[in-house]
Amino acid sequence: MYAFEPDPNQPKPELYRELAEAAQALVHGEPDPVANMANLSALIWQFLPQLNWAGFYRMVDGGLVLGPFQGKAACIRIPLGQGVCGTAAVSGETQLVPDVHAFPGHIACDAASASELVVPVKRDGKVIAVIDLDSPKLDRFDAEDAAGIEALAQVIAAAI
Ligand code: SME
Repeated sequence: MYAFEPDPNQPKPELYRELAEAAQALVHGEPDPVANMANLSALIWQFLPQLNWAGFYRMVDGGLVLGPFQGKAACIRIPLGQGVCGTAAVSGETQLVPDVHAFPGHIACDAASASELVVPVKRDGKVIAVIDLDSPKLDRFDAEDAAGIEALAQVIAAAI
């Protein structure tokens, strides 16, 4: 059993430090990427308040394919350069979107989503996946969330 008990009211940098430590412990010694992504999406879901979707899209044959996640069933394939995820994957840059309806080409998988944070996961300098977080709250994510998820992406890159 894993007994992580995050306090969502603590300052974000501390919450994300705890999340990264928990993630490291969770994937330690486990080589199966699906198992690790499944547990990591559950961990993100448990740690971060105000999310309606949290999970992975993986780079497969030059496009993004849905991976393990928490939330409602979602679009399976996203071409590179399309939507927030495809933009993050092709640019290799974090996409912080305060209002998804103002993002040209945003792909609506869950009508409840209002803001979104997508962080590329890189291995050997190449994007191998993206972490996608959606919130029903406008402007849910800030620079501290982006930095926290970027740190998480580094911690887990070898395990997914
Ligand atoms: N909104 C994303 C699609 C994935 S869902 O949010 C789970 C996008 O525009 O790429």
